[in-house]
Amino acid sequence: MSLKTWIKRILQQIKGANPFDGDCLPTRVSLFSPGRPTSPVPLPWNYKEPIQIFEAFYTGTENQQGWGAHNRYLYAGGFPPVLVTRDPGIIKAIQADTGDKPGQFDRDTSPTAGIARATGKDSLLYANGAIWRRQKRLVAKPFSRSNLFQPQKFHGFEKTFRNTVRKRLELLQALQEESGEQKTRIELDPEIKVVMLEMLVNNFFGGNVSYKELRDRYVPALVYMIDFMVRDTVAPKGQAIALTLTGRSKILREHRMAFEELTDIALAGRAENLGLWKDFQSDASDEALRSNIRVFLAGAMEATTSFATWAISHLSHHPKWQEKVHEEVKEMDVYDPDDFTSAPNLNLVLEETLRLTPALYFFPRRATQDTWVETSDHRKMMIPAGTHIRLDVWHSNRCEEFWGEAVTGYPADVFAPERWAVINEKGISPKEMLHFGFGHGPRFCPGRSLGLLEVGLVVGAMVKLFKFEAVHEHTSASAGVSTKPADGVMVDLELR
Ligand code: HEM
Repeated sequence: MSLKTWIKRILQQIKGANPFDGDCLPTRVSLFSPGRPTSPVPLPWNYKEPIQIFEAFYTGTENQQGWGAHNRYLYAGGFPPVLVTRDPGIIKAIQADTGDKPGQFDRDTSPTAGIARATGKDSLLYANGAIWRRQKRLVAKPFSRSNLFQPQKFHGFEKTFRNTVRKRLELLQALQEESGEQKTRIELDPEIKVVMLEMLVNNFFGGNVSYKELRDRYVPALVYMIDFMVRDTVAPKGQAIALTLTGRSKILREHRMAFEELTDIALAGRAENLGLWKDFQSDASDEALRSNIRVFLAGAMEATTSFATWAISHLSHHPKWQEKVHEEVKEMDVYDPDDFTSAPNLNLVLEETLRLTPALYFFPRRATQDTWVETSDHRKMMIPAGTHIRLDVWHSNRCEEFWGEAVTGYPADVFAPERWAVINEKGISPKEMLHFGFGHGPRFCPGRSLGLLEVGLVVGAMVKLFKFEAVHEHTSASAGVSTKPADGVMVDLELR
């Protein structure tokens, strides 16, 4: 940052001048203010509650009218503004305008600095500009809908995924039978993580890792590394000191080694054309693919587990929907997540899960220059160069004004798959009701097809084999890289 820019910002900050322009101006949030759930900036004592940090941006706007209640900015210390937005129009416009063309928004790398240190800077997730474009060309195709969902390939993966899911859930079934009890109390999150990783490593990348190794070595390594990445982003120095003082560097080394081993296993199938590698045509060296494989392993396990555990958690609170899904999956042998006629209720449950409890709860962006964006209802906003942007889909999707009773027939903050029928009956186009579960625009999730297939199979198979009832009346969210049910999906499980 040049001295001139710093002085300009300090003067604006002292005068209270709004650095944004347009007809849906964001309103300013002060650094210190009473009555908020926490500070609006991540600090060592509140970084584990990112959803509350965002919430702090909206405190006091309850009775405020207009777009300024949804577009909020923090501007202090000579630093560039931080814009937090739950305005769906602005969220969509910024996502559509993110890319490698001059003047487009970058993905802001500051909230993922720790991820990049652990996985590499040249991944599709972290990189911007030309490196991102190259990575996209390289890896997006094998994951694409047109590739993965060609009938032959789709059913090939569906079959092996289904076998994996069946085998793992049968283990649960056997445990249940052995116990002799009608109901078993169990935390499902750890079981689901292993199934998700197994589908990815063995079925998708063509590996051959035993269930025991996945469960005892690789899942704990990934869980540790993901947690490490979050801490390494927020407080890298503090973490380094803590590791040395507590003598835990050895644990980090061991988990890092396991992560690298798993990356080797995923890449090894390439030489033998196993799994997805059959369709992967590229002269890029294995080394050039490593960062992406690391991101896929950690990121995909995290995102698919989040999605599946939330869906199962919601169903555990809504027996009526569990029965509706059971009716359609009980005789079903083949599942196609993009065929809405084969399992409409399961698909509604998944759609509503991603709306209410999105796996990725915010998307970071950065303005590379002063940039005008325009929403589809023709509102305009100028975002100044350097602004750190947080597209806060978690709060957008729970905002009564956009998703509440008046629009969808049901309150915004409850799980109600029925709302999608109301939306449909009202003739509202799906384009108007985007919840951004897989993002939007050029940086849309390349793993959508794969993820939906995996999650649909796990949730469908769970409902087919078991009845499950939430232990806690209310399940809150915990958030790190993605969101999760905070109770680990604690349910009473009963065989059907
Ligand atoms: C089913 C669960 C999943 C959900 C809910 C999900 C969600 C998302 C979302 C919302 C984004 C956009 C982030 C942004 O705009 O900043 C994204 C990007 C991404 N996802 Fe997924 N994802 C899932 C599964 C997967 C899988 C299975 C993979 C790969 C194996 C994957 C790889 C990626 C990558 C590499 C990006 C970055 C793309 C880019 O920046 O160009 N995701 N995902």
